Amino acid sequence: MRATKSACLRLLLELLLLFEIQHCEVTGARHNMNRMQMGGNFLDSREEQMVRQLVSADVQKYMNQSADPCADFFEYACGQWGRYHKRQLRPDEMSTAQQLMENKISEQLQQLLTQPLPPQQHPNGYNGPSMTNVRKVRAFYDSCVVVEANAGERRRFLMKILKDNGGLRNVPNSNWQHNRHWVQTLGELKRNYGLDILLGLEIDLNLQNMQGKSIYLGEPKLTIIPAEHCNALATREAHVKDEVHTQVQQQVADNLRDWFAIDTGEAARFAGDLIRFEFELCKRMGEEDTQKPAEESQPTIPYYAARSRTGQERLHRQKPGMSLAELTSEMGNQLDFKMFVEVILENQYQPDVYLRSPEYVKHLVRTVKANNRITVGGYIMYLALNELNQPPEEAPSQRARQCVLVTQRLFPQVLGEMFQRHVQRDNAKHDLEAVFSDVIKALEEQLHVEWMDENDRRAARTRLSQYRVTLPDYQSLDLSALQFQKSEDYWRRLEIALKYRSQQQFEGLKGNDYGQDGDGILDAFEVRAALSPRQHTVLVGWGLLQAPYYNYFYPRALKYALLGQRLASALVQAFDDEGWNRHPQATSQWNELTMSGYRNVSECQRAQYSSYLYNEPGEFRNATRLREIIAEGSGLNLAFNAYLAWLEQQDPNLRPLLAKETLPELNFTNTQLFFIYFAQTRCWAKDNQEAILDSMPLMQHTPERWDVNGPLSNSAEFGREFGCALGTPMNSGDKCLVY
Ligand SMILES: *[C@@H]1O[C@H](CO)[C@@H](O)[C@H](O)[C@H]1NC(C)=O
Ligand SMILES: *[C@@H]1O[C@H](CO)[C@@H](O)[C@H](O)[C@H]1NC(C)=O
Ligand SMILES: *[C@@H]1O[C@H](CO)[C@@H](O)[C@H](O)[C@H]1NC(C)=O
Ligand SMILES: *[C@@H]1O[C@H](CO)[C@@H](O)[C@H](O)[C@H]1NC(C)=O
Repeated sequence: MRATKSACLRLLLELLLLFEIQHCEVTGARHNMNRMQMGGNFLDSREEQMVRQLVSADVQKYMNQSADPCADFFEYACGQWGRYHKRQLRPDEMSTAQQLMENKISEQLQQLLTQPLPPQQHPNGYNGPSMTNVRKVRAFYDSCVVVEANAGERRRFLMKILKDNGGLRNVPNSNWQHNRHWVQTLGELKRNYGLDILLGLEIDLNLQNMQGKSIYLGEPKLTIIPAEHCNALATREAHVKDEVHTQVQQQVADNLRDWFAIDTGEAARFAGDLIRFEFELCKRMGEEDTQKPAEESQPTIPYYAARSRTGQERLHRQKPGMSLAELTSEMGNQLDFKMFVEVILENQYQPDVYLRSPEYVKHLVRTVKANNRITVGGYIMYLALNELNQPPEEAPSQRARQCVLVTQRLFPQVLGEMFQRHVQRDNAKHDLEAVFSDVIKALEEQLHVEWMDENDRRAARTRLSQYRVTLPDYQSLDLSALQFQKSEDYWRRLEIALKYRSQQQFEGLKGNDYGQDGDGILDAFEVRAALSPRQHTVLVGWGLLQAPYYNYFYPRALKYALLGQRLASALVQAFDDEGWNRHPQATSQWNELTMSGYRNVSECQRAQYSSYLYNEPGEFRNATRLREIIAEGSGLNLAFNAYLAWLEQQDPNLRPLLAKETLPELNFTNTQLFFIYFAQTRCWAKDNQEAILDSMPLMQHTPERWDVNGPLSNSAEFGREFGCALGTPMNSGDKCLVY
């Protein structure tokens, strides 16, 4: 009965939305303003009813109400989610609520790239320069979609890249230059295509001098072995002959045969060399993420000693810069850093450069020395070809999606602007601002935490009052230097676009726009919120304000559970150890009292997560992930408090308004709905989930399940709302919370 009804409603809503979209095309932005002013009129209230019915049906159908919410809330809130969203998963592949949102937005972008453009005088129409940008990007996208038919063009393009860059010894007619230095190749690939191989190079604001931009060298962005296996931690107990590596190696060999018809034995040998070489490099990647075990970082020594240690640690983080010549000599003259940078810039470069991960750079120099240069050169070429072979050859049904992704990556601002124009609504923006303002108040209240010293609390309060929430701003984007000719195919256009992007990046070395770095942190189509500490803002992508995550007619309980929690967890990262003390603009660092209190509470979270995942409190040491965990948990707490504060502000006589805080046909209180919705925006399903589980209960303890159950089990309010007795898994006695 219910299923038919909700299907019916869905159809109706879709028709209504369709109508609304068409209506929008005509009346454009003005329509939204009217809607705000006319809130509560007949049309809206019918739409509102339907939206509420639909979200109610969704919330209900994903739940497994026969599970015990106090034993495993993930199972309770998301137990049936997989039934609706597990189709077409490959073995071990995971599907998440967040991904569904991202896919939906990708489909919207695809439509925006293919639908007829609105006329210029239309309220949603583009002005002259934006229109030119949109046309260019659409031309790029169109060429990407049609190239599918011709695999020969793809091979010719890869061969051309190979020939342009010194060739490969084992590929006949590839113009192999045996005297060419690989540093030359590396620099040219970075210059022409922005590829970050072996040695990462970034242009960033100079944090040491607080002005201008500088070059930072460190780990590369591209590796063959996936990042989760290519780091110090993962390689510690791994062997290059492990299955993950042999699979990757097989893929490399297959690609080489496919691209250049290298014979099987030769391809396999070569692939083996490349993977062994990279595996060695991986051993020193991602070390900055790794926390030292407690004995080393928190000596149980007198107070004054702890103080000096912290001082040293902070000093150590501010690594001084040095000239390229000095760097080369410091690294034993094994790698010519000056040549590398000057090939990239096509110019002399005198200023100091900085190292982001000195240990990796030293290790790179050693590893390169220990390997033969044909392997090193081949490795560089292979990574470049693999990266330029985008989008990968996939089934034609995947093609458009892949092309949207490539276009998104290359032209984030243009696509961001297109998306924003299409979806922006004043009422959603008002919601966002209202929720943010309550989150700020909740954090201000929460600064009373006992680990924070009064002086530091005052400074934090001042900083907090400066924070704003903003949506991306896309003014004055100038793509006039980017030109495509009609005759050029996709591959040529890809080269042009990459080169253009890469040059834009190096232009930054000349600029001095300290503080103007909002761009690039987040784009309008993204489904997330992010902190921009230099500007004291939390940036939000319009993707976060789309259905099914968000709808203007949802109860506030749902809005605070999603928006409130995301905003709060971005915001608190300005008020943790890293965000407060290591931030380059940090004016007043925490005193020792606050520091030791903070270490206490963050250690509580670390040990808790470690025990959850590994059944062993000492195992987990990833500082980056720890920061996320702390922020997620604090974000939930703050969002819930913000919601309660909002409820309190409401006139108690406004019963209809409060009635809207629950959902039709769902027997849950508004506060219970808050927690259910928090969980459901993090649902996921895996293909072979059930199989693992029943036999090994600990295998259920995954990072993804923690993302739901961890923050909830640390929330005293959650336990109360669902009547969980103290000591049940979802209401354990040992709660950890930073804010
Ligand atoms: C619901 O949860 C219970 C308890 O965990 C479990 O036994 C049952 O199989 C679940 N039902 C479904 C449909 O997943
Ligand atoms: C740290 O935690 C311990 C035990 O949990 C407690 O006794 C101590 O007072 C805490 N220290 C601070 C500074 O909060
Ligand atoms: C640490 O955690 C971050 C964030 O979750 C992750 O991206 C990174 O790969 C992890 N590092 C290691 C060494 O596992
Ligand atoms: C609604 O839930 C309450 C408490 O969970 C329960 O006592 C009541 O029987 C439920 N009502 C219906 C109609 O299911």
